Order: sequence, then structure tokens, then C-alpha cells
Amino acid sequence: MSAALPPDGGSRTLAPLERRLLEVVERREHGAYVVLAAEDPDGPAPQPGQFCMVAAAERWGAGADERPFLPRAFSVLRADGKRIELLLEDVGPGTRRLCELRPGDGLRLLGPLGRGFSAPPGDRRAILCGGGVGMAPLAMLQDELLAGGRDAVVLLGFRDAEHAAGAKLFARARVATDDGSAGRRGLVTELLAEELARDPVAIVYGCGPPAMLETVRALCERLEIPAQLALEAGMACGFGACYGCVVPLREGGNARVCVDGPVFDAERLASCLAPGEAA
Ligand SMILES: Cc1cc2nc3c(=O)[nH]c(=O)nc-3n(C[C@H](O)[C@H](O)[C@H](O)COP(=O)(O)OP(=O)(O)OC[C@H]3O[C@@H](n4cnc5c(N)ncnc54)[C@H](O)[C@@H]3O)c2cc1C
Ligand code: FES
Repeated sequence: MSAALPPDGGSRTLAPLERRLLEVVERREHGAYVVLAAEDPDGPAPQPGQFCMVAAAERWGAGADERPFLPRAFSVLRADGKRIELLLEDVGPGTRRLCELRPGDGLRLLGPLGRGFSAPPGDRRAILCGGGVGMAPLAMLQDELLAGGRDAVVLLGFRDAEHAAGAKLFARARVATDDGSAGRRGLVTELLAEELARDPVAIVYGCGPPAMLETVRALCERLEIPAQLALEAGMACGFGACYGCVVPLREGGNARVCVDGPVFDAERLASCLAPGEAA
């Protein structure tokens, strides 16, 4: 079971101090994405928006004599108290190795970490807006909202139809693709602007690449619509030690995405881009 959506962002779930060794029990492909499910009977219940630091139990590095990779960060896609699911896109050596895993293989996992999404205030309509692998934390959020009797509009943006196959992980979703091969040709932020023009009594939940999230943040700021944004800054440790994941705050200074986020109230963020990162 996932933890109930807290009313105010809640406090961080404290993960066990040790990484858990889990067994992969299922591997499914959804177009360009792989979903791995692992048995996790002892893990704390995650909140939608929390993430885990993950590594393969074996062959996690370039070779026997070479340095192992650091664990990589992944949002919790779903969890039911017995198993946890992760959504992967093969974009480099770490995700490629994880995508190779099959039932019976081992996974080392630390988490759930960070602060997740909180419940929509009042009767505001929840609009979930995701780009690419940024859809992962929104799947569990949609489950929670529907289970609680709340409506949830889901808008997803992808490169092409192969990636848009990931939308099948949702009860329902509207899709935009860059090349028009599935859903509307264009950007998911265009779908969002239309949805907000139709009914602005809403709260936006966003996750995706920094440039997409920055567009969501600026749009919500202009329209004075609250938003909770889950950032995917590159992470080295995942628990606050390395300061490798900072984003600038409106009040001044920076926040660490891994412990102060990954979910932030948009009004706290000066930008969704890392310092020095171009839109
Ligand atoms: C909180 C959080 C949640 C995430 N959830 C998911 C998820 O559910 N599913 C998923 O597939 N990925 C997710 N990611 C991204 C994932 O961690 C990276 O794709 C992964 O670390 C890449 O490792 P790699 O060794 O395969 O590739 P690398 O060699 O590390 O990178 C390959 C390419 O991806 C880019 N890249 C690497 N990490 C990131 C990042 N964090 N953000 C943007 N670009 C990056 C690099 O610049 C490079 O172009 C998440 C990241 C964070 C911080
Ligand atoms: S990843 Fe190390 S401080 Fe955030």
C-alpha cells in the first residue's frame, strides 16, 4: 500500500539506513519503457512523488577491476505493501543495466526518500502533467486521488508513439507527442494551458524534464494557480550529503532536491533549472 496523501506535504518518510536486497519478480515493456517489479515486503509505504536510489545487485559497474556505478534515482511508480514497481528508460549505462534485469535477479534499493506530493486543497481539480519518465510518480498519485474519490486529469507529453505507450500505465490520460505520431502534435504544456483556461480552479502536479517543468512553473505563476512540482535533478547520494542536486529558491539560496524535495510548491522555486542550466 502507498502511504495516504498528506494534507500539507508531510514530513519525509525515514528510509531504513541500509539498502534492501530485493528480488525482481516481473519485467514488462511498455514501448520505450521497462517496468520492473520487485518483492519488497519490509519497505516503508511510499508517498506518491518519493523516490529510491537503486542499483543492480550484480555487474553494477564497468567490470570486475573498475569502480562501481553510483546508485541511480528512480521515482516509485507503484507499491502495494508486498512489491514495489519502478519505471525505467534506457538512457545510459546505469539504466541499461537495470533494464537488463529479469525475474530472479537482485536489486539493491534505498528508500523511499524525499518529500512527496500532498492532497489537493479544498475542491481544486487535480491536473497531473508529466513528460517522459516524469510520468512515473504521477501514476501512483492518480491511483491515490481516484481511490479517495477525487477527479484527476492526466496530461502526458512524449517524444513519439513508442514512448507514448507508457500512457497505458494510467487509468486515463491525454497525450501530446513532439512528432504527432500519437495524440496531439505539440507540447504537453499546450494541453495544460488549454485545461487551465477551461477551468482555473485547479492545482497542477508536474514532473518531467527541467525545461518542461520550468514552463509549467511560469504558466502557473502567471495564472496564480498552485502547483507541486517533482524535480529530477541529477543525484549522487540521494540523502543530503553531496549537495549535487541543488535548485535555486525564490527566498534566496538553494534547496537540495533529494531531501527538501523532490516535490516542491512551485511558489518556493525561483526556477526549475539547476544553477547555470539553460532552458
Ligand atoms: C528524483 C528522481 C526521480 C527519477 N525517476 C526516474 C524514473 O522514474 N525513471 C527513469 O527512467 N529515470 C528517472 N530519473 C532519472 C534517472 O535517475 C537517470 O536517467 C539515471 O540516473 C541515468 O543514469 P544512466 O547511468 O543510465 O545514464 P547517465 O550516463 O547518468 O546519463 C545518461 C543521459 O541522461 C542524462 N541524465 C542523467 N541523469 C539525469 C537526470 N536525473 N535528469 C535529467 N537527465 C539526466 C545525462 O545528462 C545523459 O545525457 C529520476 C531522477 C531523479 C533525480
Ligand atoms: S543527491 Fe546528494 S545532496 Fe542531493
